[in-house]
Amino acid sequence: MYSLFILFATSIPQISAQSKFNLTALSAFNGASRLECWALDSIPKLGRGAANYDIGNFSNAFIGVLPPRTYASSTISHAPVVQFSIFLSGLAHIRIPNSTLPASESEAWIQGGKYGFLIAADTLDRAPRAGHVTEFPGSDETVILQFPTEGNKIPSHELLHTGPCRLDELVGL
Ligand SMILES: *[C@@H]1O[C@H](CO)[C@@H](O)[C@H](O)[C@H]1NC(C)=O
Ligand SMILES: *[C@@H]1O[C@H](CO)[C@@H](O)[C@H](O)[C@H]1NC(C)=O
Ligand SMILES: *[C@@H]1O[C@H](CO)[C@@H](O)[C@H](O)[C@H]1NC(C)=O
Repeated sequence: MYSLFILFATSIPQISAQSKFNLTALSAFNGASRLECWALDSIPKLGRGAANYDIGNFSNAFIGVLPPRTYASSTISHAPVVQFSIFLSGLAHIRIPNSTLPASESEAWIQGGKYGFLIAADTLDRAPRAGHVTEFPGSDETVILQFPTEGNKIPSHELLHTGPCRLDELVGL
């Protein structure tokens, strides 16, 4: 078990002490998966030249590596546990086939790199009625660091809106 801080040394000029860390969430609503944009409640601590966002404690972290062009169009998935997924490279396309939201709010493209953050929290117990589909259409391997939250806890957050976060809502612009 350990604690992780996310450091954004280069983003300091744009980050005020009040600026929250926003990320796209695979959440659940009325028993079905739904994409949302969350602002985590943690206020960054400024220190060591960085804005430091506390994102809690984790257990059994692992690295997932997917080959280029991995398609699984009919496979419905749920997050196995609540976990932060940090995409280092590649591309993920997440869809909610049974979504009751508009189409534009029912899919997310997550590119590896500085905007590659997702929290997956649509576990089967929370979303028994419908799940999500993830494909990795990039021409590069998709490398994902997976950090399951300690005790399967959902970090405290504010729902900014339904659908994935827009690029201008993410840290570092
Ligand atoms: C993380 O673990 C530390 C040490 O056990 C504890 O003090 C802290 O409250 C935990 N944080 C959360 C968000 O649970
Ligand atoms: C959509 O909902 C139907 C009926 O509840 C269910 O049978 C089906 O598996 C769901 N599809 C997905 C992609 O979750
Ligand atoms: C997170 O979103 C809120 C609301 O849109 C915005 O005020 C804030 O600046 C965003 N945080 C970052 C780091 O961009």
